[in-house]
Amino acid sequence: MSLRKAAVKTSTIIIIALVLIIIAAIAGYYAGAAVAPAPPTTPPPKPQLIIYHWWTAGGEKEAIDAVFSVFKEANPEIEIVENPVAGGAGAVMKAVIWGLLASGTPPDTFQVHAGGELKEYVDAGYLDVVDSVWDELGLEDVIPGTLQAMCKFEGHYYAVPINVHRSNVLWYNPKIFDELGIVDKFGDPRTWDLDKFIEVARYIKENKPDVAPIAMASRNKWPLTHLFEVLLVLRGGPEVYAKFWTGMFDYKDPADPVWAAVKDVLKALAIMAKEGLFNANHPELTWDQAAALVYQGKAAMYVHGDWVAGYFMSVEAKYGEEWSAAPFPKAVFILLSDSFNMPKNAPHPDAVTAWLKAVGSSEGQEKFNLIKGSIPARVDVAPAYPDPYRPETADDFKKSTLVPSAVHGGISKEAFVTEMHNIVTSLATSAATGADIDTLVDASITQIMQAIDRTGLPDFWKGYTIDYFITKR
Ligand code: GAL
Repeated sequence: MSLRKAAVKTSTIIIIALVLIIIAAIAGYYAGAAVAPAPPTTPPPKPQLIIYHWWTAGGEKEAIDAVFSVFKEANPEIEIVENPVAGGAGAVMKAVIWGLLASGTPPDTFQVHAGGELKEYVDAGYLDVVDSVWDELGLEDVIPGTLQAMCKFEGHYYAVPINVHRSNVLWYNPKIFDELGIVDKFGDPRTWDLDKFIEVARYIKENKPDVAPIAMASRNKWPLTHLFEVLLVLRGGPEVYAKFWTGMFDYKDPADPVWAAVKDVLKALAIMAKEGLFNANHPELTWDQAAALVYQGKAAMYVHGDWVAGYFMSVEAKYGEEWSAAPFPKAVFILLSDSFNMPKNAPHPDAVTAWLKAVGSSEGQEKFNLIKGSIPARVDVAPAYPDPYRPETADDFKKSTLVPSAVHGGISKEAFVTEMHNIVTSLATSAATGADIDTLVDASITQIMQAIDRTGLPDFWKGYTIDYFITKR
């Protein structure tokens, strides 16, 4: 073989080898790609709404579930992470929320009463402004001024209200009332005063000793203070009531007229405890268990808020047979409103905005309030109520004098209300053991004076006047 021929042969072999190497490399690349495991990827986090509320009793739970459905329909991709904390009126939940906020781990939103309770979170700097939701839903056109003022501080809205509850209602068993001829003898409960109420309770005890005249549930303490707040309006009227709960009176002077009314109400509570006008097992019961006594005919009357209507509907108690209701007194409407907010640094702010829109929507308010026993915060929503109680109270909301509830976060300061729970509970406990009523009442007044001072109640509403709290009609 010539040298030239040999060189040609070698280069041909090299070219073929190179082509083979390239083909093998390409084949290897594709083959490898087909079997190689997918590079690790983390799925995008599922959007959530972390929400806290205390609605666990009959009626309450179904009502919040109805708003969740409205929310889910509009936002199917958002998972609701619900944290219900049992204990009516937020008796347990509020401490949990303050803990979460203080430790810098806020939820996305939580149930809060409009008024003083909301203001405490605003003052502490924990909440974001929600003006944009109010604007977008046009809420100023449909939510009454009194309620607007309870959601607005330093010129901004901090919550969206879902309802209006009335705290001053007398729930009663119509069969017992008929049997004893209560209305014929004592008149319409809508017009009773404090003395008449005690007179009726004593009459029931005398004539039907197996029935508790007044249902009570003091396991979480607050229902006793709730009774105190209603009786204070009954005895003193809206102005005395508002002065007392805001500390806007000469509280260091025992001769201030506010004390005369407070004294009478404390005395009334002590009489009820001492004379056995409450069900004896009240220290063990929650508010809904006390309501059950009324429709079951074991108690004749119950002074409580209108979530009781929601409870009665949830157990299918029959209106007119097993329960009836009278605004107590009719001339005054002690209001409270449940609302939701946007804490600063909420983990899912977009979900919160979507939630607040569901809360403020006509559909959310209609579905919630039908079940809850309350009326909508929006005046343009008129649910077809199954009970005659709500149309009456919806009408009163427009016509009666309005004052916010103290026990349900409207007008006072949490620390003071908590002291009141302890003071009235210990008054009732001591009275039940037979202690002298006047001595007990005097001691309670001294304790309340000290509590007003200790909790800084008068400073809490600095810059406000008493007129802010009363919508006179
Ligand atoms: C109130 C609340 C109502 C009702 C009640 C009993 O404070 O505003 O919605 O739930 O407690 O839990």
